[in-house]
Amino acid sequence: MYVVMCKHPRQGVFTATEARKLPTESDNWIKPLLHKSQKAKEFAYCPYSKFRVGAALVAHDGTVFTGCNVENACNNLGLCAERTAITKAVSEGYRSFKAIAIASDMEEEFISPCGGCRQFMREFGVKWSVFMTKPDGSYMDMLVEDLLPVSFGPDDLKKKKASSE
Ligand code: THU
Repeated sequence: MYVVMCKHPRQGVFTATEARKLPTESDNWIKPLLHKSQKAKEFAYCPYSKFRVGAALVAHDGTVFTGCNVENACNNLGLCAERTAITKAVSEGYRSFKAIAIASDMEEEFISPCGGCRQFMREFGVKWSVFMTKPDGSYMDMLVEDLLPVSFGPDDLKKKKASSE
């Protein structure tokens, strides 16, 4: 179902979603999710970068959590939109997600999540979708595991260790 071209979106490679001509069942929830990420972008607090980002995260049961980037005068305290949305969801008891849509104002590029956000997503599984959008509503989707291959996750902490003595 998810055929992913393993090249970075900025390299202009097209994804399965764009290649798909026929609407899929999942289209019913994808479009509204993308719209919610664009609306969430309107709340972005980004006086320093002036780079607005919105995110809309859908949990396994269909509940949607939105987020925007929240910057700070103390630079490194800024939060990305994706992490805002995930933190909102987890703090309300949700840990299983179907997809996250991300929106920015970049006209010609799909907004691509930063490395920190990829790791933050990965904490909650690798087989869920990331919809990277443009303001015109076009998007490409990739799985978390494709955005962060060979990742480190919660299960690794339980694996057999060599003696530390
Ligand atoms: N940003 C996000 O919120 N998500 C992304 O996927 C990329 C970058 C934010 C962080 C910062 O507030 C601004 O965009 C510029 O980096």
